[in-house]
Amino acid sequence: GVNNNDSRGALIVLEGLDRCGKTSQSSRLFPYLEGLGHSVELWRFPDRSTSVGKMISAYLSNQSQLDDHTIHLLFSANRWEKRSMMETKLKAGTTLIVDRYSYSGVAFSSAKGIDVEWCKAPEIGLLAPDLVLYLDIPPEKAAERGGYGSERYEHLDFQRKVAQYYQILRDSSWKIIDACQSIEEVEKQLREIVLDHVITCHKGKPLSLLWS
Ligand code: TMP
Repeated sequence: GVNNNDSRGALIVLEGLDRCGKTSQSSRLFPYLEGLGHSVELWRFPDRSTSVGKMISAYLSNQSQLDDHTIHLLFSANRWEKRSMMETKLKAGTTLIVDRYSYSGVAFSSAKGIDVEWCKAPEIGLLAPDLVLYLDIPPEKAAERGGYGSERYEHLDFQRKVAQYYQILRDSSWKIIDACQSIEEVEKQLREIVLDHVITCHKGKPLSLLWS
């Protein structure tokens, strides 16, 4: 393989509004990196397979009601319960492509009117991504794509607010990709950026923590 002893995997996060194409693009990145001989796994948050994840899933499908702060902390707990596994994998040289992370946590809860700093607090100490890829799409365009399903947040007015909070959260290190382009064009741009970061992490870039 391409790993040497001190090389680690990269923590790569894809973010964006519902229907921006994150999930398709993550699943395309996976075979690409694997084909180049990298150890790679595809992760997503919420991870609905855990018991916390099942509570989140019931909430999202409107089968349960929860206070806004409570569901925020459950999303965060769902990341915390995967944190040590995440660190182990990265240190063992596995690159993780993660569909949504703490930025979704803060953007979606802030869009409900909860204070941004309050939303960030429980995320402090989680592993910071090496790369955040933001798939940028106007909320109206996303809404046109095959329509929203029946999940709780899939409404145009709410997605507009989420987009505003993503704007507040983004910093100069984020890579903003125009998600209105063709699937192939987006894929091509993502491949280049991702490969570059995977190589940087193999060279021994240290892991850091949120929020940094
Ligand atoms: P998914 O469609 O990517 O599985 O995500 C489910 C919904 O949950 C999506 O509308 C975004 C939202 N979400 C949060 O509100 N907070 C979070 O921390 C995460 C990861 C997702």
